[in-house]
Amino acid sequence: MKILSSRRFPGPSWDELEDVEYYDPPLRATREDVEALAVVGEEVGAATLELLPSLRLVANYGVGYDGIDLAACAGRGVAVTNTPGVLDAATADLALALILASRRRVVEGDAFVRSGKWGTEWVSGALLGQEVSGATLGIVGLGRIGTAVARRASGFEMRLLYWKRTRLPVEDEAELGVEFRELDDLLRESEIVTVHVPLAESTEKLIDARRIGLLRPGACFVNTSRGAIVDEPALVAALVAGRIRAGLDVFVDEPDVPAELLGLPNVVLTPHVGSATAETREAMTRVLVDNLQAAAAGRPLPNPVYAS
Ligand code: DGY
Repeated sequence: MKILSSRRFPGPSWDELEDVEYYDPPLRATREDVEALAVVGEEVGAATLELLPSLRLVANYGVGYDGIDLAACAGRGVAVTNTPGVLDAATADLALALILASRRRVVEGDAFVRSGKWGTEWVSGALLGQEVSGATLGIVGLGRIGTAVARRASGFEMRLLYWKRTRLPVEDEAELGVEFRELDDLLRESEIVTVHVPLAESTEKLIDARRIGLLRPGACFVNTSRGAIVDEPALVAALVAGRIRAGLDVFVDEPDVPAELLGLPNVVLTPHVGSATAETREAMTRVLVDNLQAAAAGRPLPNPVYAS
């Protein structure tokens, strides 16, 4: 099976594939021979599919597949797969890192030390942060990653609120120690809000300007999911006004980050690194390769995704 890949993926399992060719997206020329496309974040729409008449599989490296036009793929009988499960821990760890960095002003403290402004005194007012332990955390989306965040946050004795399209059975809520809230109520009540819903038509700008306005003054907003889930200009305005704090790993137009954010002390910025540990990235390659190998052998795909 001829595979066209936007890059070499990390880890030894990638070398198990026999017939891989690399391309520089976007694809511009017709390739009659290609049966599988391996991508990460690149757009795959009708125009790309048109160039690949023999395509059977688009294998996405990552759990989020919002760059892939599922309806166009389905219309051509092209399957789509992703790499769920193996990146939950790393992404949840990053959400916690952003919560801690933002609430405890870790990045500002680092800059303060490096600037040589740290005198002999004990740091008081300037770098006082906000408590993480015992704070109320609102989790928007309680799938695999949101659940991993909840488990970690309970170690900080946080009060855990969650919103999910379909509420969990009460016994699952009790086991996880989470309380359901409607989204608006969660935003009003939480001291920290962390977003873990996938980007889809129904979640684009789920956190719109009105909802950003519901956040408590001084609240910490963390996003490791997708930038477009939030009304980014409204979020930037709230940060510029100093009304809230944030930890942001994702942006609407990556790698471009709104210029206003770059000089703000109340936002911690990371470059979409939720899954970026050596171990997790290798595990993602394993899942990607499993899906490609299954397609090549005509076996059922381990991780198919479908248009909802
Ligand atoms: C994912 O898995 O969706 C990560 O955000 C990488 O795109």
